[in-house]
Amino acid sequence: MRMSVIGCGYLGAVHAAAMASIGHDVIGIDVDAQKVAALASGTAPFFEPELGELLQEGLASGRLRFSTEMSDAAGAAIHFIAVGTPQIPGGHSADLRFVDAAVAALLPHLSPGDVVAGKSTVPVGTAERLGSVVADTGATLVWNPEFLREGWAVHDTISPDRLVVGVPSGADGERATAALHEAYRPAVEAGTPFLVTDLATAELVKGAANAFLATKISFINAMAEIAEAAGADVALLADALGHDTRIGRRYLGSGIGFGGGCLPKDIRAFAARAEELGRGEAVGFLREVDSINLRRRDRAVQLVVDALGGLVFGRRIAVLGAAFKPFSDDIRDSPALDVAVRLRGLGADVIVTDPAALDNAAAAHPQLGYATERDDALRDADAVVIVTEWDLYRREMTPEHAGSLVAGRVIVDGRNCLDAAAWRAAGWTYHGMGRR
Ligand code: UDX
Repeated sequence: MRMSVIGCGYLGAVHAAAMASIGHDVIGIDVDAQKVAALASGTAPFFEPELGELLQEGLASGRLRFSTEMSDAAGAAIHFIAVGTPQIPGGHSADLRFVDAAVAALLPHLSPGDVVAGKSTVPVGTAERLGSVVADTGATLVWNPEFLREGWAVHDTISPDRLVVGVPSGADGERATAALHEAYRPAVEAGTPFLVTDLATAELVKGAANAFLATKISFINAMAEIAEAAGADVALLADALGHDTRIGRRYLGSGIGFGGGCLPKDIRAFAARAEELGRGEAVGFLREVDSINLRRRDRAVQLVVDALGGLVFGRRIAVLGAAFKPFSDDIRDSPALDVAVRLRGLGADVIVTDPAALDNAAAAHPQLGYATERDDALRDADAVVIVTEWDLYRREMTPEHAGSLVAGRVIVDGRNCLDAAAWRAAGWTYHGMGRR
């Protein structure tokens, strides 16, 4: 099928390359000429495992192209909208200006029978509003939310755990459903559930999924607060809870909490939309989820301060990690960098290291010290803080080796990812988050 993908960020660039890899003829469109030039030369403009190879294969096959010209979308059977929906400045709602602009720019290039498939995360009601604008051209708008995780984006796009398509009722909706079914045929044939809903339900599925995941993380971090007060160990608690298959262990990772370009802003936008619908009470708990999450950052900073005897001013602190999670260079709302910035604000001599996100971190926070190599960050540190659980810190750093570099064997494990007993046995003072 011929397809266009409007917006080539974390979502759209991967979607375009993945669709080409399963045999479609894809044009990716973005207003950012630099990004388009990078993608067109086979270079991923951000860190995402497997994306570079997929881009190069797609470009070499001739089935994948990139452009800054919206007119190049003309002739495609499906146009995927994959632009960002950030938080509005000074508020909690989603900023829809990029979605609105993308649809407005696409309108003159649509033909009757085309399908416009929104993938961006939007407040419920957006699809219906845009659908009536698109319908004037004879095209049909559907909503096809995306659930990919950064760091696993290629895998999640090619082998999703479910496909959800919200369509309008009637013959147009049926034609559009058939087009989306064809677009995702390999995944559907491999047994991926293909759920067809109305527009509003499809929009809500995405918001609800992120709200649930954020709630699960904040639940375990709330338990960490109790464990701290009671002298219990939240990591053992999570293991024990996780064996209950109704609960499950995934997303019960305690520590400094969630960040990134999705969960924080999506739960806020979800709650803001619920307020608009007069149902704010139904998601009042999301405010708690948000504040539990932000409290963990305070707690991590406090642990470091306490670990250094109450004062960090002038002390050298190695901060291991800057990305909001491993396998990503994304620092948007990164709890890791937030902790580093706050420690710096208290006068600490902070040295941040990260295998992927250092350039992004340095551009955003030039006041912090940076080390490209982990061991250079560790050297002469009075305390070490792990804030992103990269294997480089979690698995490949032994307490003995780290101990030979630092000035003081003090470690704060902001992701509860280390074997506390092993670190203590090597003479370290180990502090976990909600752990004895
Ligand atoms: C998330 C959703 O998982 C995805 O389905 C949606 O499409 C976009 O938002 P992503 O932002 O890539 O994906 O990251 P995710 O892996 O979900 O992690 C989000 C944050 O939660 C990270 O900061 C991570 O460190 C944190 N996290 C995750 C925890 O603190 N504990 C956990 O157990 C899991």
